[in-house]
Amino acid sequence: MTSPGAEIDRIYGFKDREGRAFLWDTLAQLRRERRATFRHCIRLGRLARDFARYLGASELAAKNLGLAAACHDVGKLCIPFEILDQTDKPTDEERAIISSHARHGGTMLAASSRPLAKLAAGIAEHHHVSSRDRGVLPGEISLGRDITSLCDFIDASVSFRPYRKTDTVRFALKNLVRIHGAGPSQLFEPFVLFCLGAFRKRLETEQAMLPKSEKPLTPEYMKERLAREKARVAASPRRGTPSPPTQGP
Ligand SMILES: [Fe+2]
Ligand SMILES: [Fe+2]
Repeated sequence: MTSPGAEIDRIYGFKDREGRAFLWDTLAQLRRERRATFRHCIRLGRLARDFARYLGASELAAKNLGLAAACHDVGKLCIPFEILDQTDKPTDEERAIISSHARHGGTMLAASSRPLAKLAAGIAEHHHVSSRDRGVLPGEISLGRDITSLCDFIDASVSFRPYRKTDTVRFALKNLVRIHGAGPSQLFEPFVLFCLGAFRKRLETEQAMLPKSEKPLTPEYMKERLAREKARVAASPRRGTPSPPTQGP
């Protein structure tokens, strides 16, 4: 089986200056009009790029994947500001409007014929769709989509949102394992281990405030938790194969 790093190289390892310029122009518009979403997109893009490097992808491919992933929420340009930036919990109707950002983003990015923009459009369109609902996506799209969804789950959990509390990194990682850890994705375990390094400082600060009896999240501890989660799900015939994570809009 090809390694994820080699797959990222195969899909994203090409030069596309015009495609990159188009995606940066779109992000620049997001920066002008939806500042908080822009910051989230940039954080997510860096996380996706660094994870691609961790998986062994080349610098060119990691940067292309990071930029394509960063554009996943550009469709929020089409969502009215009053709905997007309100401090109250969104109503069902508002939630449906916010959810349409994935479709809008896919359409906006597909306006370019550049290959990197096409990959970004696929990620944007499908980044909130569970594997059960999305059918079989082309491998080119599903790899970037799955990486984006993992990064989105973590960033949306541990970053400030006006309408809900911010999770600790410790809680977000445990939650990720509990909800999605039994999935078949070969990306999952490396992603959890990568996050232990990427959020090391925050984890150390959190750990310092916990009672001494709480175990630190070490790679061994997280591997053991993942194994336990897989065993628990395997023993439960009623539960189907979990989908890759999709964070709420
Ligand atoms: Fe997002
Ligand atoms: Fe989104």
